Amino acid sequence: MRILVLNGPNINMLGIREPGVYGSQSYAELLRLLQVWADELGIEMEHYQSNHEGCLVDKIQAAYGTFDGIVINPAAYTHTSIAILDALKAVAIPAVEVHISDVSQREDFRQISYAGKACVKTIMGQGLDGYRQAMVFLRDYLSK
Ligand code: DQA
Repeated sequence: MRILVLNGPNINMLGIREPGVYGSQSYAELLRLLQVWADELGIEMEHYQSNHEGCLVDKIQAAYGTFDGIVINPAAYTHTSIAILDALKAVAIPAVEVHISDVSQREDFRQISYAGKACVKTIMGQGLDGYRQAMVFLRDYLSK
């Protein structure tokens, strides 16, 4: 089972950016944890982060025929990007949306998720563990 983990803008700043909201663990630590969890779950995992919307669209398109599932934290593009929504719909790869913070309890402008409309599940407010939960969900979902 091949899973692509995609992260959008500023996720590479984890540990530095707003630790009260996103925690003190770094992006490097997230990558380390992703590999540990993937190994535990028997998942072949690839990760990619970009601050650029089109690069994320390119990566989603390139996943077609290659990956079985996508874990995506589109970060701020969650709330703005119809292009990412359309890319997820185009490839039709089962995707889980992850947010480290509980966006449902935050500003009004974070209450819309475009990408989420193409996802089979959303996990929010679980910190970095949300990525593990997303991988567990996809493993079970894809095994059915
Ligand atoms: C985020 C929530 C978004 O609203 C924000 O723009 C982010 C991170 C999260 O993981 O909680 O950059 O996706």
